[in-house]
This record gives sequence, C-alpha cells and structure tokens, in this order.
Amino acid sequence: MLTRVEALEAAEAAAAPYNAEGSRITFRDVMVKDGQVSLTVLGAGAGAQHALEAALQAALAAAGAETVHCRFRAGEGAPAAQQPAAAQAAAGGPGPGGAAKAAPQQAAGPGPVRGHGAGLEAHPLLNASSGVQFIAVASGKGGVGKSTVTVNLAVALARKGKRVGIIDADIYGFSVPDMMGIEERPQVVNERVIPIEKFGVRVMSMGFFVEDNAPIVWRGPMLGKMLRNFFAEIEWGELDYLLLDLPPGTGDVALDVHQLIPHSKEIIVTTPHATAAFVAARAGAMAIKTEHEIIGIVENMSYYVSKSGEHEYVFGRGGGARLAESLNAELLAQIPLGAPDNHVSEPDFAPSVYKADTDTGRLYLDIAERVIAKCEA
Ligand SMILES: Nc1ncnc2c1ncn2[C@@H]1O[C@H](COP(=O)(O)OP(=O)(O)OP(=O)(O)O)[C@@H](O)[C@H]1O
Ligand SMILES: [Mg+2]
Repeated sequence: MLTRVEALEAAEAAAAPYNAEGSRITFRDVMVKDGQVSLTVLGAGAGAQHALEAALQAALAAAGAETVHCRFRAGEGAPAAQQPAAAQAAAGGPGPGGAAKAAPQQAAGPGPVRGHGAGLEAHPLLNASSGVQFIAVASGKGGVGKSTVTVNLAVALARKGKRVGIIDADIYGFSVPDMMGIEERPQVVNERVIPIEKFGVRVMSMGFFVEDNAPIVWRGPMLGKMLRNFFAEIEWGELDYLLLDLPPGTGDVALDVHQLIPHSKEIIVTTPHATAAFVAARAGAMAIKTEHEIIGIVENMSYYVSKSGEHEYVFGRGGGARLAESLNAELLAQIPLGAPDNHVSEPDFAPSVYKADTDTGRLYLDIAERVIAKCEA
C-alpha cells in the first residue's frame, strides 16, 4: 500500500526537472488514502503546470496510486537548499493536521484569486458590487441536513419575493434536483446553460449532467472546471441571493468557494448532538479564518413532536446553541424532525420542500426573514 512518504518521494523525484534555478517545487496537504493521492503543489511556474501535472500523475501511478489529484497554488517554492518535504514527513514533520491549519490562511490571503477560480473574478456575478448575496451552506459532518436547509431557505427567500439561485456545489453528492423534484434537464441557448427554475428558484447541479445517477470519478482538474462553469457558463440572470450547497467538511471545494467568492456569507448546519456540533465548529473556524461572515447556525433534527404535542429531544440537546456561542453567531432556528407531508400525486411534488403553511415551512420563512434582515441591513 502506497504510503504518504513514498508518495512524496515519488512526487519530489518527478518534480525535480521542473525546479527553477535557486528554488524548488514543494508539496503540501499530501493525503494518501486507499490508493487515492491528493496534494498541493507550490512553486511551480504557470507555464510548467501542465507538463508537471502529467509527470506527477505518471510517477504517482507508477508508485501505486489509483487516482491522483493535484492542486496548484501560486506561492513560494522552497530555496534549493531546504530539506525536502519527504524527509520532513519521515521525521514526523508537518502532517495533515498542520496542513489543514495552513490551508485556510492561504486562501484568505489578499491578492489575485488562485486555484480553480483564477481568472473568474471578472465575472459580473462574482463582482462584490453585483449586489448578489452569496450564502454558502456548510457543515462539519455529512447528513445533517445541509441540502435540505439550502433548498428550503432558497424556496422561503423566493416566497418572500427574492430572486434566488442555488448552486449544488456538492459535485460528488449532488442531491438538490431530486429534493426539489426536478426532472427536466437544462437547455443550452447561445452556448449558455439556462438553470432550471422551480418554486421560483433557479437551480444548477452536477446532477443535471450525469446519466442515470452513474457514479462519478472526478479528477482534480475536472472538479475545478465544473465549479468554474457553474459561474462562468450559466445564464443566471438577475439574482438577489445565490445559495451554495457545499459538500460536508472543510475540503477542497469549500476552500475554492471561499477563495472564489471572498464576500460570501455562511450558514452552518448542525444537529443537536454534541459530536455534530463539535465537528461543525471546524467548518465555522474555517469561515472565520477566511473572513467570511457567519450569518448564523441552523440546528436541524432538533426534536420530535410527539402525538401529544410534546418535544422529544431524541438526538440530544443544545448542540446548536453551544456552536452558536462558540462562533459568536446567532442560532437562527431549530428545525424539528419530520419529512414534508407531500404526496407524489401533487402537481408540484418535491420530496424535501416544506409547504409554506406548515410548521416547518413557517420556520424557514422565519429564517429567510432573519437572513434578509442581516444581508440587507
Ligand atoms: N428535519 C428533518 N427531519 C427529517 N429528516 C430530515 C430532516 N432534515 C433532513 N432530513 C433527511 O436527512 C437526510 C440528510 O439530509 P440532507 O441530504 O439534507 O443532508 P446533507 O447534510 O446535505 O447530507 P450530505 O452531507 O450527504 O450532503 C435526507 O434524507 C433528508 O431528507
Ligand atoms: Mg447534501
């Protein structure tokens, strides 16, 4: 099984011919898991990236990697004399923990947008003066209800008369089209993709481009391109709010979004369970480090309303409030357990959208009001 040290050694050997005089290409965030390698490359000249990536792919594949995901970040390589990263790693040097701490700081840095978003900052939608409010919906753990919250907040904002879009940025685990009951596929007009509109919300998702829910094996460059395309090649029209349903955790996509939309705000979703809230704090810490305003916390699956009308706290209590306190943010709402009471036979059936005149539907309208108050103050 390929180890991290072996992967680094292979990468360093492959990169050696690309070192500029007096400086050396270095690697960061090197992760190896089940034959899947991902790493950040620093100090590579823009002209050499393509060839270097091919060389890294080949060398790591030869060393036993099944997939290789390279991120190129502008930035300093090391002076030629510095100890190679592989040696540092072997000596227990900066490991994944250290890398995770360093990454958001780098993303927060001022200056031109790098990575997958490079060159996109001129896009009118992304311009800070466009008037579009970007809200990224994040969580620490998966399955806590990010997508449900994204979809229902978007619909609630539309019910309040706002022009709203959703980017289903969970490019592996897209679920927004299904949740909203969208079956049609977007049309292309003048080489631009028209988002699908449902419940007054314009939606764009990777799910529109995948046949029959086939598994997707994205390579790094494809992943970045997809996210770029969601901004560059989509005919969004005029928007007041664009919500981004992020993949769980503080991974690559979350970082790219942070970098691409420095003015985006954030909502963090957690369950009341202490562990979920603890992990969510990491997503919060990332938002703070990258200087994204946290609009607030939504605690989902907070309680179950029993037949007699009592609240039963089946997943524990207080996670959302504690998280809000630790992030110095507002607890926007506590959403009870319970799927929407919708039926397939209804004309506008959507499995995950709560109707406006239900208890949970009203909670989402309340969140929308608070969001509008915060964003348009
Ligand atoms: N309040 C709730 N009551 C009951 N079920 C819920 C509630 N919120 C979400 N769910 C259900 O829980 C599951 C996970 O929700 P969802 O997909 O929104 O989470 P997620 O955080 O986006 O997950 P992932 O990390 O996989 O993207 C879904 O089946 C959803 O329908
Ligand atoms: Mg989701």
